[in-house]
Amino acid sequence: MADKLESNLLGSSPQFAHVIAQIRRIAKFDVAVLIGGETGTGKELGARAVHYLSARAQQPFIPVNCGALADSLVESELFGHERGAFTDARQASPGLISEAEGGTLFLDEIDTLSPKAQASLLRFLQDGTYRRVGGTQTRQTNVRLIAASNANLDELARARQFRRDLLYRLKVMNLVMPPLRERGNDAVELAKIFLDRLNRQYQEQAAPKRFHADMLAAFARYAWPGNIRELEHFVQREYLMSEGEVIHGALPQDGAVAAPAADRYNTVFKQAKAKVIADFERSYVAAAMARARGNISHAARIAGQDRSAFSKLVSKYRVASMAEQGQDSGD
Ligand SMILES: Nc1ncnc2c1ncn2[C@@H]1O[C@H](COP(=O)(O)OP(=O)(O)O)[C@@H](O)[C@H]1O
Ligand SMILES: [Mg+2]
Repeated sequence: MADKLESNLLGSSPQFAHVIAQIRRIAKFDVAVLIGGETGTGKELGARAVHYLSARAQQPFIPVNCGALADSLVESELFGHERGAFTDARQASPGLISEAEGGTLFLDEIDTLSPKAQASLLRFLQDGTYRRVGGTQTRQTNVRLIAASNANLDELARARQFRRDLLYRLKVMNLVMPPLRERGNDAVELAKIFLDRLNRQYQEQAAPKRFHADMLAAFARYAWPGNIRELEHFVQREYLMSEGEVIHGALPQDGAVAAPAADRYNTVFKQAKAKVIADFERSYVAAAMARARGNISHAARIAGQDRSAFSKLVSKYRVASMAEQGQDSGD
């Protein structure tokens, strides 16, 4: 599995090397793990690596997307139910925890669990026991829990939307998958590896393709809001859509930083706002100056601004005035 881990979790940046080292450590200890990180950063891949490097490797790894389960079904899916526990329960079902017996249960999007499900999960984490829905028998299991979320659980706990006691139980070990844009040259490295795979996969049908140098530079610059998932899909799409042997596609709105991570919204918002204001001021000042034929006093009157404030904008945006041409008699 050691080699397999290396071939699955790609990236040789120091940031990612640190993550790999943490995964190896975490795998040795049989405790709950909480994995954080933006969408597409490899949380599930990381959870699998922890399982397959652990002593439980020969036992099942059961992934569950909590967000995809209907609220009313979460508990019966996880803990199972007895026959007749609810209308559709014609047969008893053991549930996913029982399926994961001896192995690892991976609960993705843990933040979506209802308060009731959170309470049951806490109890299960505290003593390894649970009851099927509609059942009275307390069952004992041996399952390692790994939970993941791209939400800020500390924040949710503060807002009382996530149980703090459950958070502490899950967070015995905490692994944070870094966003691709904070992983040095990994975006470029991964793009090349994904392209190599496609070249091999389609070698019968097409001559090998390569990226144009501009694309590699763009990969390094782009913010990758969807992280590795986005990169993987992008490379695949460009590979299939490009006609020649050199791939020269465009990233979505290069530099526009589509859908940044929550903690970056604030900075990005401020930058975007400042840019809109600057663009507006520049074109407004230029238009007023054009109408006033370069006369600052006249342009300021058109703009309804006092002369000195307007004059500052003129020099800020380097709009040509008659003064610069020695003609602004009003100065
Ligand atoms: N370090 C990595 N190296 C190669 N592929 C990766 C890496 N991290 C994630 N992936 C791939 O990116 C996609 C998203 O990973 P996933 O683990 O589902 O992310 P998350 O659960 O954080 O949304 C998957 O196809 C996965 O195989
Ligand atoms: Mg996922």
